[in-house]
Amino acid sequence: MLDAADAHVVVEGLVKIYGDRTILHGVDMIIGRAETLVVIGGSGAGKSTLVRHLIALERPTRGRIVIDGTDIASLNDVQLAKARRRFGMVFQKYALFDSMTVFDNVAFPLREQTKLSERDIREKAMTKLKELGVDHAATLTPAQISGGMAKRVGIARALVMEPELLIYDEPTSGLDPVTSRTVDSLIEEMRERFGVTSVVITHDMVSAFDIADRIAMLIKGRVVAQGSPAEVLAVDNADVQNFVRSSGVDVTRFEHRGTRKTAAELALRARERKSGRVE
Ligand SMILES: Nc1ncnc2c1ncn2[C@@H]1O[C@H](COP(=O)(O)OP(=O)(O)OP(=O)(O)O)[C@@H](O)[C@H]1O
Ligand SMILES: [Mg+2]
Repeated sequence: MLDAADAHVVVEGLVKIYGDRTILHGVDMIIGRAETLVVIGGSGAGKSTLVRHLIALERPTRGRIVIDGTDIASLNDVQLAKARRRFGMVFQKYALFDSMTVFDNVAFPLREQTKLSERDIREKAMTKLKELGVDHAATLTPAQISGGMAKRVGIARALVMEPELLIYDEPTSGLDPVTSRTVDSLIEEMRERFGVTSVVITHDMVSAFDIADRIAMLIKGRVVAQGSPAEVLAVDNADVQNFVRSSGVDVTRFEHRGTRKTAAELALRARERKSGRVE
């Protein structure tokens, strides 16, 4: 079990009420550094609402979000802007700027939030586009590329700031199976190379069981299961069982991951990297 003191993100008693509707009913969650937490659950369960709180795009009605030991509600605007540079989000709808080229979309956060030279920006943005296999589309606008490519551009834009916490809201929805597996590898690569902590919302059970260190399942704004893939599969709850198994996922999928680096190993590496990093 993860200790809150070592955690990257702690969610405590998170309640969110919109008007007279309670969307989140007291969610508790601990996300370890360099861990991949996958959030599953039916449509409207509150998954997107939950993750928007993690990067302070929403304020809790009640409860706290603690990141690196700091309650993000206690930050002033300047501190929050600084903290946000360490968060990245791949939105459910791609949220690209239609009037900008693919290149400018990816360069945007660097231009807005860093003092890098245009030359360095060019280099970083093009490297990310290349890693995502969409560099050939750099001069096109979002309207001129396919949905799958737009998704990859959205991921490139989130990764270009090298965030410590990266939220992916349905990164593989609408992608073909081959591209979906590429996105899974990418999420895994970010974790392995940079010790990124990832929170991934998905309806794709193959993805969920391939990439998760831990899985949390939400039903109607409540966490009904939370644990390793094996633990979630063993949960004695018919709703959880139906949800996971109706997707036809091969329940032995996670067994091949014995050699995967642990979150603790990667967290150590991430801390070393951070201490050696020049801001
Ligand atoms: N800004 C808002 N104002 C009012 N209601 C909202 C707002 N955002 C979300 N909701 C409501 O909260 C509920 C949960 O929405 P949310 O988008 O978090 O679900 P989800 O689990 O991400 O679903 P999906 O799988 O369809 O993306 C929905 O009923 C939605 O209508
Ligand atoms: Mg959603």
